[in-house]
Amino acid sequence: MPILTGHARLAGIIGWPVAHSRSPRLHGFWLERHAIDGAYVPLAVRPEDFATAVRGLAAAGFAGANVTLPHKRAAFALCDTVEASAQRAGAVNTLVFHNGRITGSSTDGWGFLANLRAHGVNPVAGPVLLLGAGGAARAIAAALLEEGVAVTVANRTPDHANALAADLPALRVLPWEQRNEALPDHALLVNATLLGMQGHPPLEIDLDDAPQTLAVADIVYVPLQTPLLADATARGLQAVEGLGMLLYQAVPGFRAWFGVEPQVDGALRRFVAADLLPG
Ligand SMILES: NC(=O)c1ccc[n+]([C@@H]2O[C@H](COP(=O)([O-])OP(=O)(O)OC[C@H]3O[C@@H](n4cnc5c(N)ncnc54)[C@H](OP(=O)(O)O)[C@@H]3O)[C@@H](O)[C@H]2O)c1
Repeated sequence: MPILTGHARLAGIIGWPVAHSRSPRLHGFWLERHAIDGAYVPLAVRPEDFATAVRGLAAAGFAGANVTLPHKRAAFALCDTVEASAQRAGAVNTLVFHNGRITGSSTDGWGFLANLRAHGVNPVAGPVLLLGAGGAARAIAAALLEEGVAVTVANRTPDHANALAADLPALRVLPWEQRNEALPDHALLVNATLLGMQGHPPLEIDLDDAPQTLAVADIVYVPLQTPLLADATARGLQAVEGLGMLLYQAVPGFRAWFGVEPQVDGALRRFVAADLLPG
């Protein structure tokens, strides 16, 4: 931890719980790399204290904060200005405090697209089949639709997919059971469910009929190599891991709070990944 001066820039991540968050490690890496007079700290805030805590951080001179579960919707309601990205995602994960005003944005969709492009996958190459209708799926669907690409969502609970489509009318809905036969019509498959995550069963999907041009992205990053990605790789399909999305979604916040454009590269990836390995 460097010695801070009285001019230090401050930011952090607000969650409940927050101890599992990798964001302090990620932002800490960039702060050290750029020798910035600043700090990024974990902020464990109970839901009932959220508004008080955010206003307090702004009053105390913080530059802003990330917001994680369970506060993403509460953050949306608290902002003076909500950027288009957050309007589309229906949630806020990045707060910037400036002149007593709170501006909120959602960087998950941007991070997802940036990670795809970093892997050489063009998000608008063709229709996208998106599995899941939770918070992350919503941000991804909104970002893809904004790019002008056709997106079909399939989710275990149809009501959740329909609710998403009600908010994002361009979204098509497919029954969860039809995900396999839909694969040949798509250029990109995205897993935005919990399936494949440590402690959860793997995603059941049959890539036998997948075209060789299909790219497969998983946003689960624990483990780094999910069963879905291993299967896609074994079949010679382009596979995009989820850690990159986590790294890229942090870029806009860091730039806004600390005034430096940070890079996502192999050194950062290795540093954050080292904390994800079992044991
Ligand atoms: N890489 C990144 O930067 C990043 C960012 C955000 C999230 N994530 C990861 O993305 C995943 C989803 O996060 P989230 O915040 O969107 O979670 P969420 O809001 O809780 O949504 C969970 C989704 O998973 C589905 N699901 C859960 N169990 C299932 C099962 N047994 N079978 C089929 N579907 C199931 C849910 O379907 P129902 O609607 O039927 O319940 C829902 O669509 C997590 O693994 C998270 O770690 C990664």
